[in-house]
Amino acid sequence: MTIRLTWQRVALALGALALAGMAFAWSGLFQIAASSGHWRVTDWFLHWVMRNSVKTYSSFQTPEEVTTDQGLVSAAGHFRQSCAVCHGAPGVRPSPVMQKATPHAPDLAINAREWTDRQIYWILEHGVKYTGMPAWGAKDRPDEVRRMVAFVRRLPTMTPAEYRALTEVAAGVDVAGVRPGVTAVCTGCHGNDGRGRGQPDIPVLGGQRADYLLASLERYASGDRASAVMQVAASQLTRAEMRALADHFAAMPGLQAGPLPRTHPLLTEGRHADQLPACAGCHAPDRAHPVIAGQRATYIADRLRNWRGDEKVVDARKPHATMPVIARRIPKEQIEPLASALAAADPGD
Ligand code: HEC
Ligand code: HEC
Ligand code: HEC
Repeated sequence: MTIRLTWQRVALALGALALAGMAFAWSGLFQIAASSGHWRVTDWFLHWVMRNSVKTYSSFQTPEEVTTDQGLVSAAGHFRQSCAVCHGAPGVRPSPVMQKATPHAPDLAINAREWTDRQIYWILEHGVKYTGMPAWGAKDRPDEVRRMVAFVRRLPTMTPAEYRALTEVAAGVDVAGVRPGVTAVCTGCHGNDGRGRGQPDIPVLGGQRADYLLASLERYASGDRASAVMQVAASQLTRAEMRALADHFAAMPGLQAGPLPRTHPLLTEGRHADQLPACAGCHAPDRAHPVIAGQRATYIADRLRNWRGDEKVVDARKPHATMPVIARRIPKEQIEPLASALAAADPGD
């Protein structure tokens, strides 16, 4: 006797299967213990699904540029703060607790070779569901993700000494009122002299207004100012430590607090036709705005570009809405020359 395949029978069979599945889930027999690991076949299947998903989505959900050859220090420092606990790092073992997760985080010195830059970018930006691999900590910071792609790429050949050189600076300073060790986290990226270790993406803190540094730390910690790197660094500070560190770095030599140089017309005259006020109208010694002369050109240009992308902000009178509106009015081809003119009073490293 043969059973004829009809739609009704198929539907019935599927329904029975779903019910059996529900009954199994309800029974509590499904093994969710991380200690039991995965069967080999489950492990293979899950990785196959993940790999296909990453391949598909990374082909259209990534920007044109997914890596960079600049700014390894901030990526390495962020990796040390946020990733090494699960993945380990050159010369650093992952936390044994995190290695008891299923799946546990792979050694990227081995696994990074299996992925293209574009795929790593996608994984870092979005994270991986059901694995504990988190998404990037801040929205709209493709520049931060790019630097991390470059860092992950370097892991297979990075020695412990190279990793230490990227993440630590010798002979740290003590700042009164700040827990021991915390200041060393800051100087690992910002340097003992607050000049950012010559890195293109790390701003000069020396000579900056202390109130502005403090406000920035608060806004990073709350997520108001988007940076995964600085959010992690700032959220471990108490309010008193923020104050002490802001005062400490502001008191160092670095930025040029005097009137802006007359080396670019937008700095001191603005541009009437575009309703662009002179930068010097606000960034002046007697005004409570950040010091920008002597700041690193790449950092200035990146901030201006980042603000330009923020098109939701339309009312320049709102707090922190000023710069997005101003940045959009700067002619695109003037961003680099303007940033270079400001940086020309270079603190030198
Ligand atoms: C809570 C633990 C945890 C943290 C923190 C974490 N990861 Fe992961 N990560 C994982 C796990 C687990 C996987 C494996 C996902 C899989 O293969 O299914 C993974 C996968 C990856 C992969 C893909 C490699 C592969 O073959 O699966 C990269 C690249 C990666 N992580 C980088 C990072 C970076 C960079 C950070 C820090 C910003 C980070 N991870 C933070 C747990 C973590
Ligand atoms: C892993 C590297 C890293 C660490 C660690 C780090 N910073 Fe930063 N910091 C950066 C980068 C990169 C930026 C620029 C972020 C951006 O684009 O907004 C920055 C920006 C800042 C700013 C804003 C400056 C401005 O001109 O707007 C302050 C203030 C600051 N950091 C203070 C600190 C303090 C205090 C610590 C220690 C608790 C610290 N940072 C730790 C990399 C780091
Ligand atoms: C109406 C006042 C005003 C004018 C005009 C102005 N700015 Fe600003 N600027 C600000 C404020 C306020 C901030 C702090 C923004 C924040 O914290 O979100 C700032 C911040 C900045 C920063 C970031 C500094 C840092 O350390 O991260 C840069 C760079 C900058 N401005 C460049 C410019 C340039 C270039 C011009 C001229 C084209 C200009 N600004 C004109 C008010 C102004």
